[in-house]
Amino acid sequence: MGRSPIIALTGATGFIGGAVARRLLREGWEVRALYRPSSRSNPVARAGLSWIPGSLEDAEALARLVAGADALVHCAGAVRGAGRDVFDRVNAEGVARIAARAAAARVPRFLLMSSLAAREPQLSPYAASKRAGEVALARAAGATAWVALRPPAVYGPGDRELRALFRWIGRGLLPVLSGAAARFSLLYVDDLAAAVACWLREGGGEGHAFELHDGRPGGYSWADVAHGAQDLLGRRVRRVPVPEAALKVAAALNLALAVTGYRPMLTPGKVRELRHPDWVCDNAPFREATGWRPEVGLEEALRRTFGWGGRSGPGRGA
Ligand SMILES: NC(=O)c1ccc[n+]([C@@H]2O[C@H](COP(=O)([O-])OP(=O)(O)OC[C@H]3O[C@@H](n4cnc5c(N)ncnc54)[C@H](OP(=O)(O)O)[C@@H]3O)[C@@H](O)[C@H]2O)c1
Repeated sequence: MGRSPIIALTGATGFIGGAVARRLLREGWEVRALYRPSSRSNPVARAGLSWIPGSLEDAEALARLVAGADALVHCAGAVRGAGRDVFDRVNAEGVARIAARAAAARVPRFLLMSSLAAREPQLSPYAASKRAGEVALARAAGATAWVALRPPAVYGPGDRELRALFRWIGRGLLPVLSGAAARFSLLYVDDLAAAVACWLREGGGEGHAFELHDGRPGGYSWADVAHGAQDLLGRRVRRVPVPEAALKVAAALNLALAVTGYRPMLTPGKVRELRHPDWVCDNAPFREATGWRPEVGLEEALRRTFGWGGRSGPGRGA
């Protein structure tokens, strides 16, 4: 019997990379994961999983990570920060560096965790850096076959960014962060991990970036989210519009604090992302290329993550 295929993975101490690691291990892949010793998440020991200490800035660690790997799944990324340089260093230059390493080591396949934000690079330094990462991968990949996935907002157990929003919903208040007519797609984290596993197994669509969502064409409005939560919680969820001016003031304060080394999530760029009216995406090309099907819609995801609606999920209560 041959050895199990080795998947080199980055970002495994994070929300999405952690879910990807668990999924790949469950499916019997061997996972070799990069971790920064400074990470606030401890690298957990599991059968089939080995950890390589280092970062995207560490050429020797990257060489060890990719040596002999059958595929590379690159989920590490900067999601908070104040300036373009913070995002570019990781999301663009980091991708260029690891893609060049993978090409030099003849890693056959590379999956980049990009973002739907890459569709609108003019909105923010984060969005621009995610688009730049896709361009860098295409340039550096050489003979490595690649795809980039562009998920919309991803949520589920272990998420740190949307947790606060869901906590408010659990208390009966939904802060409406963009215009009332805004629409957005969503994706449950396990479905994203399944998409990664599906591409590793089946291949398809090489050389392209793909949008992914939870199977709901046309996405959600804020009213849809409020009604879905309301049905599960059995209580009214009131929508509370958050004025753009308030978001901008909070973002400006965060930016001022960033000189102390603090890495803010809410920045002027993030406000422009939040206020963007159309974050709806299209699943069809990736489904057709790989056969992947999302399984978890909003209500089931809220049940699993928060235990709303009577079923206790693996996550924290809201
Ligand atoms: N969450 C979403 O809704 C969402 C939506 C679309 C796309 N994405 C993309 O998905 C990816 C993962 O996001 P996430 O939500 O899982 O973020 P996360 O929880 O903050 O995880 C980020 C991961 O990247 C690692 N990392 C950051 N900089 C690194 C560096 N210089 N060298 C090595 N590792 C580094 C972090 O390591 P440490 O533990 O050491 O910090 C962590 O493992 C990102 O590329 C993001 O752009 C996320």
